Amino acid sequence: MTVDRKAHWDRVYGEASEAQLSWHQDDPRVSFELIEMSGATANSSVIDIGGGTSRLASLLLATGLHDITVLDLSQVALDVAKERLGQAGETVKWISADITTWAPDRHYDLWHDRAVFHFLVDPAERATYLKSLVRGVSIGGHAIIATFAPDGPEKCSGLPVARYSPSDLAELLGESFELVVHRHHLHQTPSGKSQSFQFSLFRRCR
Ligand SMILES: C[S@@+](CC[C@H](N)C(=O)[O-])C[C@H]1O[C@@H](n2cnc3c(N)ncnc32)[C@H](O)[C@@H]1O
Repeated sequence: MTVDRKAHWDRVYGEASEAQLSWHQDDPRVSFELIEMSGATANSSVIDIGGGTSRLASLLLATGLHDITVLDLSQVALDVAKERLGQAGETVKWISADITTWAPDRHYDLWHDRAVFHFLVDPAERATYLKSLVRGVSIGGHAIIATFAPDGPEKCSGLPVARYSPSDLAELLGESFELVVHRHHLHQTPSGKSQSFQFSLFRRCR
């Protein structure tokens, strides 16, 4: 299962240009705004789960953050992201791993996930993810989870997804996290379609 999933994403990133990736965005603005709202500073540590080839790491570096980790299942995506950043990317920690089997070995001030958690349609995998989330985020730290909203697409990259409202997510995350703020966002895909997303900012309270 894990091998097939990795092969899928390596193939997608190996074959498609950025303009063919429905989730591509030149500017991860909503994520960035919520990161600012979390009170992140230059010393905050951030992990981007399933960061793929997102511009978020580069935006955070440009803002002065220096403790940035990008995790993705696809080594192909990480290589593209790393190469694009050039020398600036040398301080980024790149982790090639499946979030459903990986366990963090440190705390992060901020956990960011745009369009990754929603692929976990198996409750057992969601449970493992949530365990890592609790383990990886310090008390007082934050998590941003962006998924397709209830009126969003039923598939992404040909794979089935689970769609969430902010309150669905709050219930799943349980009492260790409180919902701070949420945003509805209509993502315009490079091919001109609209996709309904929700972005939720949580604070780890216990
Ligand atoms: C829809 S893309 C979103 C990429 C990025 N977050 C963004 O906003 O541009 C989903 C990403 O999650 C990665 N991914 C999918 N399943 C994963 C898993 N189980 N563990 C880690 N990464 C995964 C894919 O390789 C891909 O880069």
